[in-house]
Amino acid sequence: MSKEVRAVDWTGSGLTLIDQTQLPHRTVTMHVQDVDALVDAIQRLVVRGAPAIGAAGAYGVALALLQGRREGWSDDEIRAAVARVRDARPTAVNLMVCVDRVAHRLPEGLDAVLAEAAAVQREDIEANHAMGRHGADWLLERTGLDRPLRILTHCNTGALATAGWGTALGVIRELHARGRLEVVYADETRPLLQGSRLTAWELAQEGIPHYIQVDGAAAGTVLRGHVDAAIVGADRIAANGDTANKVGTVGVALACADAGVPFLVAAPTTTVDLATATGDDITIELRAEDEVLEWAGVRTAPAASRGHNPAFDVTPGRLITALVTEHGVLEVSAGQLPGDRAA
Ligand code: MRU
Repeated sequence: MSKEVRAVDWTGSGLTLIDQTQLPHRTVTMHVQDVDALVDAIQRLVVRGAPAIGAAGAYGVALALLQGRREGWSDDEIRAAVARVRDARPTAVNLMVCVDRVAHRLPEGLDAVLAEAAAVQREDIEANHAMGRHGADWLLERTGLDRPLRILTHCNTGALATAGWGTALGVIRELHARGRLEVVYADETRPLLQGSRLTAWELAQEGIPHYIQVDGAAAGTVLRGHVDAAIVGADRIAANGDTANKVGTVGVALACADAGVPFLVAAPTTTVDLATATGDDITIELRAEDEVLEWAGVRTAPAASRGHNPAFDVTPGRLITALVTEHGVLEVSAGQLPGDRAA
């Protein structure tokens, strides 16, 4: 197995990020030392994936404190800089939760802030490994299949999208480690190709057999009986189980519901937002029109066309067979809600 990648790491004086816009062709790291650079990196998806931007935001509090000391900011100015990190993207609740958790330690100084951010990072890795085990156990038991499983996934949920190991991809990696994975169907994930660039890169590094398919193929793949289960990550899970994830996820869930194929969401409890009642209350990030009107920087749509570019969609809880967290598996469509703790 290859060395685990670290999408986000604190290296002495600042934050080191893998520049995910450059993958899979170039593995470039970026050293971030001020708040503007971090906000820009989050917004351009240099760092992305709900738990990874949570970890980046956590260390962003330390960046704000250090920059404030260098530039003579007042406490209010430091807090305003922290708020800019918190607001860099609107949908993944992990960003807000992790920034708030670490900002709470600001009065205690830099060491306390860095210790809290490191705890955020460490706990996310531990949660991902626990999710991997719970999700794999559930899938093997519930599918009842004695052959290796064929799994569909959408977007990227691996080490790149988290502090390490991965959520949905962590379950897939666990199945592979147990010799119980046949193949992964990785949706391309238009328009920014998190599936064909990032998930495929991670799967290839692990030697996991996979197909990349265009997003439009996913429903047909499910309905034709090519997959035993679909598993995705999440950016925010409302109290009623409705789940925001990368645009295109709800189509996969609808196909799975029609075909009777389990549709799983794997996410740490930092992604659960009990203060948000339903999916209707989740803010969906609308990104630049150019991302859908252009291909590799070249305009492909007619000049008169407008682009509609929601980065996420909401899958109703009734379509989610099970939610895998670090505490266990909840059967959402059967009535278990994210506020319930699995045994
Ligand atoms: O826009 P992105 O690339 O940040 O979107 C990421 C996703 O939608 C992931 O599926 C989600 O954050 C879960 S990551 C473990």
